Amino acid sequence: MKKILLTGGAGFIGSHLVRLMVSKYPDYHIYNLDKLTYAGNLENLTDIEKSPNYSFIKGDIVDTDFINQLFDSHQFDSVIHLAAESHVDRSIVSPMDFIYTNIIGTVNLLNAAKNIWKNDLSQHIFYHVSTDEVYGSLGDEGFFYETTSYDPRSPYSASKASSDHLVSAYYHTYHLPILMSNCSNNYGAYQFPEKLIPLAINNIKNKRPIPIYGDGKYTRDWLWVNDHVQAIDTIFHKGTIGETYNIGGHNEWKNIDLINLLCSIMDKKLGRRAGESAELITFVKDRAGHDRRYAIDASKIQRELEWKPSIQFEEGLEHTVDWYLANETWLNNVTSGNYQNYYQQQYSER
Ligand code: NAD
Ligand code: DAU
Repeated sequence: MKKILLTGGAGFIGSHLVRLMVSKYPDYHIYNLDKLTYAGNLENLTDIEKSPNYSFIKGDIVDTDFINQLFDSHQFDSVIHLAAESHVDRSIVSPMDFIYTNIIGTVNLLNAAKNIWKNDLSQHIFYHVSTDEVYGSLGDEGFFYETTSYDPRSPYSASKASSDHLVSAYYHTYHLPILMSNCSNNYGAYQFPEKLIPLAINNIKNKRPIPIYGDGKYTRDWLWVNDHVQAIDTIFHKGTIGETYNIGGHNEWKNIDLINLLCSIMDKKLGRRAGESAELITFVKDRAGHDRRYAIDASKIQRELEWKPSIQFEEGLEHTVDWYLANETWLNNVTSGNYQNYYQQQYSER
């Protein structure tokens, strides 16, 4: 049985990836290592938590001794690294959390993997999950390619860019067998309601103002999270060692247009008058250093690994709204902070 260490598996994207790997690969044992920060929620994984090929490990990737001991005792075959501080607005308020987790945490994992794999690198993979934000900000035209120079502009994206460079350096210097992907904005079930789409869904549901930063014409390329984790699975199994793959939805939306679409979907779902939810839209002070536009060219992964998004945005957004409306308890627990008691209740006797 292959032992796969998956970091950040209690977060948004990580929990979708854990679910996919645990159910699709019974011959892998998935070890989910997560610190359970405010963004980590084990309620995301209640459906698979008792699977025989799944284990949860609570721990901090910044703790060097803990990480070294964990790798020594478990002898993982491969690593898929998602654990990170991930919210740009928080990085503006508290950059050091991002420096520690995203940079030091990544180096700790790289060192530990290098140490236990040193005698035979051939059977292993260190897969680093990263973001399109490392490429900076686009004007009205153009796309981010794998060859685009890095130009990070927020503490979050600068910390992710640093970690990408370190992963690449360990490949070139130590021949650590790495894979990397840089993905655009994800949306879907289990996303923490501090990010635009779930925050707006929650506010529309509760008839609270929907905050739109600046002029609302900032543009993002949205991808359904289920498609992102399919892409990670594809790269992990078919990617060429040492390569980076861009992942995106070919699906650009200005924030204001996206929110108007969301409002009209929710008016229908909630039986409200057409245009009622859009009245909640409120323009607020802009984010500092706000990147204007992201757009991914995902032709490499499509051409070389035959991955492409499975659904249209309107359909994915409707699924997402349906999920949040049907999972009121999850949303209430997250917004009230109750989800943080789950670990205590679930794991205190283990
Ligand atoms: P998230 O914030 O929802 O989850 C992050 C997880 O990492 C949480 O479970 C948290 O508890 C855990 N974590 C944080 N610090 C830790 C530490 N020191 N030790 C151990 N665990 C720790 O993030 P997400 O949106 O699921 O993003 C996952 C990864 O994908 C990140 O690396 C992010 O940069 C990248 N990414 C995200 C998006 C997106 O749109 N959300 C797009 C592209 C790439
Ligand atoms: O591009 C990939 C990145 O996407 C990931 O690397 C990050 O982890 C992820 O958080 C996301 O970053 P963004 O900053 O693009 O996502 P966010 O949901 O915070 O914001 C999306 C856009 O909406 C952005 O232009 C800011 C704007 N916004 C956001 C919030 C939370 C608002 O106008 N109002 C808001 O309240």
